[in-house]
Amino acid sequence: MSHDPEPFALADEAAAVLADRTGVDTHDVVLVLGSGWAAAADGLGDIVADVPMDELPGFPAPTVLGHRNSALSVRVGDTRALVLGGRAHLYEGHTASTCVHGIRTAIAAGCTEIVLTNAAGGLNPDWPVGQPVLIADQLNLTGASPLAGPAPPPDRPIRFTDLTTAYSTRLRALALEVDPTLPEGVYAGLLGGAFETPAEIRMLAGLGADLVGMSTVLETIAARHLGAEVLGISLVTNAAAGLGDEDLDHEDVLDAAAEAGPRMLALLRGVLERR
Ligand code: HPA
Repeated sequence: MSHDPEPFALADEAAAVLADRTGVDTHDVVLVLGSGWAAAADGLGDIVADVPMDELPGFPAPTVLGHRNSALSVRVGDTRALVLGGRAHLYEGHTASTCVHGIRTAIAAGCTEIVLTNAAGGLNPDWPVGQPVLIADQLNLTGASPLAGPAPPPDRPIRFTDLTTAYSTRLRALALEVDPTLPEGVYAGLLGGAFETPAEIRMLAGLGADLVGMSTVLETIAARHLGAEVLGISLVTNAAAGLGDEDLDHEDVLDAAAEAGPRMLALLRGVLERR
């Protein structure tokens, strides 16, 4: 879409189009699917509508292999879930506003719970490839923020958002009911583009990171700004650079995610059933 109105107004506009195109006035929870997670959504529930994401105002088509250009409205029991098959990243050249537009749209559409999934490199040597990890906290190392720029409009909260409990303890507890073996960790979100160097991974370990990736952190900030609860789940698709035997490769990331698909589906379904 060519015009660029103020980002919160654009989210309201996208939510109106979403309601119109799906025939669903409000959604309860949004799931954002990271690289390779798309298959985890198949079988989540009854698909009520499937709208190409790039037909919603302000949504770019996903360019990253392993993402789908699809916004699904899915019924899971009593829950009306919005499932976004991909996301925009800073490394694609998108602004922070565009990266969080899906979240702001979902919240404008009624969502009070946000489930962010991603593929991540693991810094904890105990975590095998295919290990899902609950995000307990984050390091936003992108240098960007969705709350930088013009002040939010008067009908939204001011920008100085409390991130003390960015990732909901309540939703993490629900995920642990589904799978009590899930570990927790700190996710470091970087600009990305390239994977990290081993020196950067040693630095991140020193900073307290357990997981490293190129998404999620801006979306979490945008969601907390608007008061939504966030559940973050990383799928460890590789040992972080220099920690494993293999070179890093996006295809391997996707293969690892595809293999974990059934486990991820069960986890997402279980959370949605308990919320
Ligand atoms: N680094 C950054 N992003 C990633 C990685 C990684 O090792 N694996 C999957 N996404």
